[in-house]
Amino acid sequence: MTIKKDKRNALVTGGITGIGLEVVKELQKEGYLVIANYPPHMKERAVKVKEEIGVNIVEFDASNYDDVEKAIKKLESDYGEIDILINNAGITKDGFLHKMPVNDWQAVLRTNLDSVFNCCRVILPSMRGNEFGRIINISSVNALKGQVGQTNYCASKAAIIGFTKALALENAAKGVTVNAIAPGYVDTEMVKKIDSDILESQILTQIPMNRLAKTSEIAFLIRHLIKDESAYLTGQTISINGGMYFN
Ligand code: CAA
Repeated sequence: MTIKKDKRNALVTGGITGIGLEVVKELQKEGYLVIANYPPHMKERAVKVKEEIGVNIVEFDASNYDDVEKAIKKLESDYGEIDILINNAGITKDGFLHKMPVNDWQAVLRTNLDSVFNCCRVILPSMRGNEFGRIINISSVNALKGQVGQTNYCASKAAIIGFTKALALENAAKGVTVNAIAPGYVDTEMVKKIDSDILESQILTQIPMNRLAKTSEIAFLIRHLIKDESAYLTGQTISINGGMYFN
């Protein structure tokens, strides 16, 4: 059964913290029907976010295809088909490759890259059928420039860029745009995990603006990319990094 909607739906993976949460708030303000995904181990926090900002929340492990398929089918029957997908779920497990546990490699690739395949694979057929869709994949400045201690993260985020270009081509004639953004270092819990001495001496010194990005600055860019009027913009990777790297 197709649900009739009076506004566009947006699903944000990893939508209860960091960039994801800010995007959720921004899109709520814009009048979208927003659904924030969270992973099973963050249930308590997700319930708090729901209470605080009144957003719809959905639990699934984005790295697990069966979980994603089951949850999104349920979302479609509750809220209608998804028009906008923000593939934001991501983790870091930093460390030099010669010391990296296999599990750290696999966890990062699964969460950051498999999740993008999983969500797109489940949602795209309806976007194509509706001849409308907006997909934003969150890559990183480190996908473009490389970063010590992040072979796993850089590999996952660079793969997203190739994925974005290929998927954009496949769907260009179907009203579905697919773009990536490559944020620099953003003021989030993920970045705050970096040892403060390293952040000061090795990271901030590389950022010409000499500060971290605000999550609101990233959400503002995404808000524009998903508009109906952004219909001619596809297959791009847009950097937003305070001048740290020009691609
Ligand atoms: N380049 C090359 N070698 C370096 C180096 C650098 N920048 N920094 C340190 N080294 C060397 C050290 O001199 C040391 O050499 P020896 O073994 O010969 O003494 C060796 O590397 C190991 O150094 P450490 O003991 O400091 O290594 P560690 O394992 O404790 O920490 C690290 C390594 C985890 C990578 C740490 O340096 C780090 O956290 N770096 C920052 C990583 C980063 O930027 N992560 C981004 C997270 S946020 C994010 O990813 C969001 C986004 O999209 C931007």
